[in-house]
Amino acid sequence: MEYPEFQGKTAVITGGASGMGLLSGKNYAKNGANVVLVDINREALDECVKEIEAYPANVLGVCIDIRDYDKVCEARDKAVERFGTIDILINAAGGAECRICKAPAGPFFDMPIDIYDFGIDVNLKGALYFDHACMKVMAAQKSGVIVHFGSITGEEGCGKNIAYSASKCALMYGMNKSIAQAGAPYNIRSVAIAPGPVLTRPAMANMKTMVGRAAEVQEIVDMILYVTSKKGAFINGTHILMDGGRAAWQHSGN
Ligand SMILES: NC(=O)c1ccc[n+]([C@@H]2O[C@H](COP(=O)([O-])OP(=O)(O)OC[C@H]3O[C@@H](n4cnc5c(N)ncnc54)[C@H](O)[C@@H]3O)[C@@H](O)[C@H]2O)c1
Repeated sequence: MEYPEFQGKTAVITGGASGMGLLSGKNYAKNGANVVLVDINREALDECVKEIEAYPANVLGVCIDIRDYDKVCEARDKAVERFGTIDILINAAGGAECRICKAPAGPFFDMPIDIYDFGIDVNLKGALYFDHACMKVMAAQKSGVIVHFGSITGEEGCGKNIAYSASKCALMYGMNKSIAQAGAPYNIRSVAIAPGPVLTRPAMANMKTMVGRAAEVQEIVDMILYVTSKKGAFINGTHILMDGGRAAWQHSGN
């Protein structure tokens, strides 16, 4: 077991039925944590819960849309009812609005505004809702760690997915720092991980980085485990850009 301190702790993971959220859940489960996977995709969620249960491990699947605050509170309550605490919150649900909404080709100002409402609601408000709901539990127990997912697009912008880029920038900077400030009196830390391209989808292999490849999903998950562990206890109110040097490369003018 790499991180014995996760034994018996509870990790709530949004976007837990795919990609980095799912692999985080598997890694926490292998380290003895109770895992709550939250996702809107019921079919995928059921499969993931079955797979983790078979380790064996304690896992709960909660199918909700993170844009609905009442449902977010229900998910929080189910997690506490089943496992008693919420020690770690990973806000992994999200994605670029134009990809998810299959937006037609065209300029920003010609897109239906609903697409950008969706982008802000899923990427920014969903995390805010989860922080708000779960911090109440963490504050009462006087401990907790929250992870926000930023993105390289929060650093360099994204002319197509404007709500995504703006949300990710907010998550990496204002929101992450503010949650760290709000959480400090209760021994709650907040850390953002901001990946460059990650191979959760084959298309990400086409994005350029200075190291000449996209990240393996496990490389990002290893950092999530580290920042939420005892070894990461001094990391707070900041973001970790894991982009294979992409941002530095762009600044160099290459
Ligand atoms: N993959 C990358 O290259 C990359 C790069 C930078 C940042 N990110 C960010 O990292 C996070 C994880 O990325 P990933 O590629 O592992 O994600 P993914 O697309 O593999 O999984 C996202 C999960 O979130 C769920 N989800 C989406 N909307 C939801 C909603 N409204 N309510 C509940 N669940 C919802 C989806 O069903 C899906 O299971 C995301 O926030 C993403 O924006 C990803």
